[in-house]
Amino acid sequence: MLNKIVELHKQCFPDKPWSESDFMELKKSGCEIVASENGFIVWRVVADQAEIITIGVAPNARRSGIAESMILLMEQELKKQSVVNVFLEVSEANCPAKKLYEKLGFLVVGKRPKYYDGTDAIIMSKTL
Ligand SMILES: CC(C)(COP(=O)(O)OP(=O)(O)OC[C@H]1O[C@@H](n2cnc3c(N)ncnc32)[C@H](O)[C@@H]1OP(=O)(O)O)[C@@H](O)C(=O)NCCC(=O)NCCS
Repeated sequence: MLNKIVELHKQCFPDKPWSESDFMELKKSGCEIVASENGFIVWRVVADQAEIITIGVAPNARRSGIAESMILLMEQELKKQSVVNVFLEVSEANCPAKKLYEKLGFLVVGKRPKYYDGTDAIIMSKTL
């Protein structure tokens, strides 16, 4: 399964692909990694807070609701664990991702100026 996620990650983030050992480290550090044929999501829970570490959908499968479904499934899992807030970080320049999170009710709660090679990072949060 890991090689499939690595391949998907490379398609989604060609400039900074993660290796199998990167994903193994995430798993060891307590992250949840969920993948399907065309998408993956990684999150981490600390006490009653969660953070989306990464999410991606194969380019040829986008705009069919896969990312939205993965986040909604994650939220169901988090509610079972009594998680109260989900955070994430997204590049100011990443319009598809920003639209996705806005649609699902995430709100901008902060900004890290020039975080990604000169582009601001936006911190978003949703109360479950
Ligand atoms: C961001 C990403 C995960 C979205 O995946 P997806 O499966 O295509 O998204 P969905 O089909 O579930 O879209 C859900 C909603 O998000 C918004 N959205 C998604 N892609 C969009 C786009 N290209 N333009 C505008 N809105 C978009 C829309 O509101 C959409 O709802 P709608 O189709 O009813 O209008 C995908 O584009 C991707 O993998 N990008 C590269 C990796 C990445 O940037 N990950 C996020 C890092 S923070």
